[in-house]
Amino acid sequence: MKTVKTLVGGLCLCAAVGSCTPAAQQSGQTAQETPSKSEVVIENMMTRRSIRQYKPQAVGRDTMQTILNCGIHAPNGQNKQSWEVRVVDNPEFIDGLTEVFKKKNPQMAADPSFKNMFRNAPTVAFIAHDTSYDMSQIDCGLLGANMVLSAWSMGVGSCCLGSPVRFMKTDKDAAPYLAKLGFSQGYELLYCIAFGYPAETPAAKPRNAEKVKFVD
Ligand SMILES: Cc1cc2nc3c(=O)[nH]c(=O)nc-3n(C[C@H](O)[C@H](O)[C@H](O)COP(=O)(O)O)c2cc1C
Repeated sequence: MKTVKTLVGGLCLCAAVGSCTPAAQQSGQTAQETPSKSEVVIENMMTRRSIRQYKPQAVGRDTMQTILNCGIHAPNGQNKQSWEVRVVDNPEFIDGLTEVFKKKNPQMAADPSFKNMFRNAPTVAFIAHDTSYDMSQIDCGLLGANMVLSAWSMGVGSCCLGSPVRFMKTDKDAAPYLAKLGFSQGYELLYCIAFGYPAETPAAKPRNAEKVKFVD
């Protein structure tokens, strides 16, 4: 039996069948050990990476629905749920908008790995915030965190994206695509999240632990 042992911030996480208890290691035992709920949750968070190369197939709508349900169960100010989400898995939309983008950014499209402007993903969730509520951007961020983490737990990769949204909000030829998303009056596109099945396994990006301190 294979033991997958991950060391995360001093935590020994047994992510698959096997054992990494010190007693079992000493005795050479291979007793099966089910990881605890917190081990599973923490490992899911610590192993998530932004994915920028995807397999071609879109994420199934049932799976996307689960991801969306996790999103809308995020904490949010006064339970106002001050977000709107539009999911696009229609290649006509993604490729059509990408053609507009390529005309304005030919150097990006010259990259041989470039497939579309959403980091090559087949499914994109567009997230809009309520411009009348000062906490709405926080709500939308937490919604997205739930979405990317639940997706990762199901083998679905993702990448939060700001750049394509800047383009969509400023380029006149992209305007029909923005309009097609049909956000309600008072809502404005904030960011999007690319989703798909990963076709790469990127290394972890370093984090600066100095930014986080306890205050006595
Ligand atoms: C608000 C926001 C905007 C982002 N915009 C982009 C983007 O336009 N293009 C991109 O490739 N990645 C984008 N990212 C992904 C970040 O680059 C990525 O999360 C960061 O480098 C850390 O890497 P990790 O997610 O693999 O831990 C964005 C992430 C966030 C949260």
